[in-house]
Amino acid sequence: MNDNMHPTMPVIRMLSPADVPAFRAIRLESLQRDPGAFASTTQDWLGISDADWQRHLVDNAIFAAFEGETPVAIMGLMRQRASKMAHRATVIMVYVRAIWRGTGLAEALLDMLDRHAAILGIRQLELAVRADNAGAVGFYEKAGFAAIGRVPGGFLQDGQEFDEILMARRTRRQHPNAGANR
Ligand SMILES: CC(C)(COP(=O)(O)OP(=O)(O)OC[C@H]1O[C@@H](n2cnc3c(N)ncnc32)[C@H](O)[C@@H]1OP(=O)(O)O)[C@@H](O)C(=O)NCCC(=O)NCCS
Repeated sequence: MNDNMHPTMPVIRMLSPADVPAFRAIRLESLQRDPGAFASTTQDWLGISDADWQRHLVDNAIFAAFEGETPVAIMGLMRQRASKMAHRATVIMVYVRAIWRGTGLAEALLDMLDRHAAILGIRQLELAVRADNAGAVGFYEKAGFAAIGRVPGGFLQDGQEFDEILMARRTRRQHPNAGANR
């Protein structure tokens, strides 16, 4: 914990398939409150079944921060499936409720992801962010991500195109048994 963290920081844990209600609550909140930040819309996610919500939790490592029983932040890790790319994962669903921004909670979540990634033998974290999302780009740069590419007009929202910035950083930790080909 760094010095400027809130004294009663939410508790971060990985979500299990039993956590669908909390997952649904914080994911829909993120899409509703910051619709410009995500590739999906609220509508995309409102229609999915409980089994689909569960599948997201099984297929990906998704962490949430809880204030008591209430989820207030979320961040996930989607690993590449192909064996020669399994050392790479994409950071997804990044959202911190507005009152918890600037507290170090986003950094703490990213650190949990990094720790988990290293245990899995993941060497590189990647992500995509809308170019005009200065707060998120600033957060990622502060966390050591560097821009590795740009997709012109990568986001199309209400008929308007926005560039997408691709970013990456190596995991801060390495798996103790990570060999040359992991
Ligand atoms: C992205 C998000 C998780 C970051 O969390 P946060 O608590 O706001 O991030 P932090 O305060 O730790 O870091 C933000 C950093 O970005 C920089 N920053 C913030 N706003 C900025 C701006 N408008 N322009 C440039 N840099 C900015 C600052 O360097 C800041 O660090 P500092 O306060 O130490 O100087 C949070 O803002 C959020 O949930 N946003 C809405 C959803 C979203 O955009 N998700 C990302 C989808 S890709």
